[in-house]
Amino acid sequence: MSRPNKQELSTLTFNSLAVHGGNEVDKTSGAIRTPIVMANSYALPYDPSMKDWSDTQNPSYTRNSGHNQICLQRKLAAMEGGGDAAVFATGVAALHAVFFTFLKTGDHVIVSDVTYQAVWRLFAELLPQRYQIEVTFVDMGDMGAIKAAVRPNTKLIHTETIANPTTKVADIAALVSVAKKAGILLSVDSTFTPPPFFRPLALGADLVVHSLTKYINGHGDAMGGVVIGSKELVHHLKADALVDLGGTISPFNAWLITRGSVTLPLRLKQQFSTAEVVAKYLESEKRVAYVTYPGLESHDQHGLAKAQFAGKGYGAMMAFAVDGDPDTQNRFVANLKVITSAPSLGHDESLIVHVGGSGRGGAQHYPDNFQKYGHLRLSVGLEDPEDLVADIKNALDQTWG
Ligand SMILES: Cc1ncc(COP(=O)(O)O)c(C=O)c1O
Repeated sequence: MSRPNKQELSTLTFNSLAVHGGNEVDKTSGAIRTPIVMANSYALPYDPSMKDWSDTQNPSYTRNSGHNQICLQRKLAAMEGGGDAAVFATGVAALHAVFFTFLKTGDHVIVSDVTYQAVWRLFAELLPQRYQIEVTFVDMGDMGAIKAAVRPNTKLIHTETIANPTTKVADIAALVSVAKKAGILLSVDSTFTPPPFFRPLALGADLVVHSLTKYINGHGDAMGGVVIGSKELVHHLKADALVDLGGTISPFNAWLITRGSVTLPLRLKQQFSTAEVVAKYLESEKRVAYVTYPGLESHDQHGLAKAQFAGKGYGAMMAFAVDGDPDTQNRFVANLKVITSAPSLGHDESLIVHVGGSGRGGAQHYPDNFQKYGHLRLSVGLEDPEDLVADIKNALDQTWG
C-alpha cells in the first residue's frame, strides 16, 4: 500500500491533507503511522568523504534534518501552499531564523509596532545594538506610514496577520503590493490565522511563520516553529539558520505536531465559532470595560477582517479587561473554573493571561484601554461556548460578590 506522494498531496483538499500529509507507511514495520525516529545520526554511505555536511535534505545528522522533521516540513509546506518549509524548536527560533538569514548589518526593517514581545525586543534592542540593523516600527493599519518608511536599504517588512495581543489586523494584500514595488521581502507571522483559514503566500507574501506551539499542534504538549516559503528562500534559511544556528526541533515534538495538526481544520472551525459567542457575550457585559476581537463590529478593522478572511471567521483570540484595577483583574481570573490562567494560546483548553498596562515592550503603541486597564488575553479553546460564558459570568459575579 502506498500513501499520497508529494505531487498527489498538493491535489488533496485541506481536510484530507491534514489527515494524510506527512504520514507514511513505515518501510521496516509496515505500521501505517510514521514512527518517531529518535536518533541523532543516520548511517553514512560507504564513502562519505565527499559528502555535503550541511545537507538538509537527506538526513545524516539530526541538527540539519531528520525523518520526523522532514515529514512535518512536507505537511506544513503543503498546508500553506509553499515550496518548502523549515521547522525549528520554537516559534521564536523560526522568527529569528528569518531575521538572521535575510538581514545583515546596515539593513533596514519595517516592523509592526504591536508585534509579539520577543520580536519587539529583537528589533527594539538586540538586532540594532548588536548588528546595527535599522528598524522602523509602524502602525500596520497606516499604509501611508508604511510606504513612507521604505528606504533604499529596507530589506524586509514583518507583521502578524492578527497581532498578539491587540488583535490589530494587517492588510496582507496591501503590504504585498508595497513590498513588491520596493523589491523587498514580506514575512508574515500567521500564528493566529493558520491554514486553511488564511494563507498569506497565496496573496504574494514571501515567508510565513507559525509558532507550532499554538494552533497547529493545538494540544499544549509540544513546542515548535516553522517558516514556509519558496524552495529557494527556505533553502537559504535551512542552510544558515538550521545548520549553523541549530535551533532544531526534536523528533518527538515534530511527531507530536504532525499528529496534532491532523485535527487543525476541525479545531479552528469550532474555536472560531465559540470565540464569536464569547466575544459577543463580553461586549454585552456592563462589568467588562472593553473587548477587542476582529469579529465584533466595534473592532476598528472589522471590515478589513471580514474581507480578508472571506467570511471564514475571525480567529479565536481576544483581549479584554473587567472594569476595575489590576487586582480586580486578578480576582476575576482567580474565580474562573473552566478557563485556565497560563501563558500560550491556541490549545485545546481555553487560556487566559493578565498582562499589566505598561509591563511589556512596545505597550506604548497599544490602544488607550490597554494602557488604562491592562488586558486579559483570552485564547478560546474547544470547550462548549455555554460553559465558557457561564464560567466568565460566574467569575464576574464572584468578583463583585
Ligand atoms: C504571534 C506569535 N508568534 C510567535 C510566538 C513565539 O512562539 P514560541 O513560544 O513557540 O517560541 C508567539 C508566542 O506566543 C506568538 O504569539
